Amino acid sequence: MTAKLNDMVQNKPLLPADNPILKGNFGPVDKELTLTALEVIGTIPPQLEGTLLRNGPNPVDPQPNHHWFVGDGMLHGIKLSAGKALEYRNRWVRTTSLEEKTGLTAAPVTGTELLVQGSGNVHVISHAGHILALPELGLPYELNLALDTERQYDFDGELTSSMTAHPKIDGETGELLFFGYDLVAPFLRYHQVDAAGTMTNTVEIDLPEGIMMHDFAVTATRVVFMDLPVVAKLELIDQGMPMPFQWDDNHQARLGIMDRNATSDTVKWIDIEPCYVFHPLNSYDDGDNIIMDVVKYRKVFTALSDSKYAKGAKLERWTIDVAAGTVSSAILSDRDQEFPRVDPRVECHRHRYGYALEVGGELGFGGLLKHDLDTGNSQYHAIDSNCAGGEPIFVPTGPAEDCGYILSVVYNSGTQCSELHIIDAQQFEAEAVAIVKLNTRVPFGFHGNFVEG
Ligand SMILES: [Fe+2]
Repeated sequence: MTAKLNDMVQNKPLLPADNPILKGNFGPVDKELTLTALEVIGTIPPQLEGTLLRNGPNPVDPQPNHHWFVGDGMLHGIKLSAGKALEYRNRWVRTTSLEEKTGLTAAPVTGTELLVQGSGNVHVISHAGHILALPELGLPYELNLALDTERQYDFDGELTSSMTAHPKIDGETGELLFFGYDLVAPFLRYHQVDAAGTMTNTVEIDLPEGIMMHDFAVTATRVVFMDLPVVAKLELIDQGMPMPFQWDDNHQARLGIMDRNATSDTVKWIDIEPCYVFHPLNSYDDGDNIIMDVVKYRKVFTALSDSKYAKGAKLERWTIDVAAGTVSSAILSDRDQEFPRVDPRVECHRHRYGYALEVGGELGFGGLLKHDLDTGNSQYHAIDSNCAGGEPIFVPTGPAEDCGYILSVVYNSGTQCSELHIIDAQQFEAEAVAIVKLNTRVPFGFHGNFVEG
């Protein structure tokens, strides 16, 4: 499965019957459910008071060459309270595209028409009282905790271009920092939103061409944009490819560093070796340097299938000497891994611990990893061999950085249903303290957050 997954990521055309993204737990579900009386094995910590939200693609009408990154967004919610699992529910994001295909009434849209309207299928955050389903391209959608889509969201009319799925919420100030990239010029914009949810700054940033910029880095004082060699090729859409992006050896890989409060394009660009990063773990200032921990691939989205690149990504530390214009790198963990997360309280600030999902195995994903970046030690939380983990989402419950629980939506191929695994982050290699049986399948998706209350 892993080799096929890599083929998909590299845009290798696959015969429809072989498309792994329509099979097993990559395949979509066809119903919206609300399930109660969920079986629990173990004890749900009573401190977990809120709803785990998880987003991912769930295409209503997948095409034979369907790509995992596209398709109608679907939110999954698991509500925990007083040591009980009260409810699981799933709902599609109510876009106009979904309405055209299903008749499900679309949520109100803004007046902004973008080249890509967005399906809100990548991530979900809660900021300043707004729960936002975030897209790769396009505007976000605001939801409530019942997963009803309330409206397309544009920060009171201030956002008229795409929003990334990976904004950063400063763990100390509560500010929301994000960028948006687009397939047509201007290719990149940077935005600041204060802790109360008001957009205070937008900066247009010059790029030589359109690229896929999935994520970025933010420290207490600076932001880092990743201009990497996966470039936009709109002609791929005409060729029937669902993802208009391709690796380009001619595109110089660069990191762009800018003051976090800059009000004009004052980015300092530093060339780096070609690579691709979907997700930094976290980043912080270290004196004048920037420490940026990333899950790094050698190459993705290549036109030709080349098995030597068909390997997962490693966790790497980049030390950016901004004054000297250099970036040094060191491997932190050489296990194949993705979906790195930290305690949200240390986002944009120095972190000691990081968590990630193991990539590989028959089902595509395996157990979970906890990295202690002070000692260099990594711990492994094993999951049964017939199961595949999901993104590890850390929920703090005490003052120490690793005092809390990891929540991960796990697929069990034996029951063909999914389960919520709750793991004590300080007893990481021990069995899950609780497993909530969801009695339905949550397709492999991307990202989520725990919304308290
Ligand atoms: Fe992502």
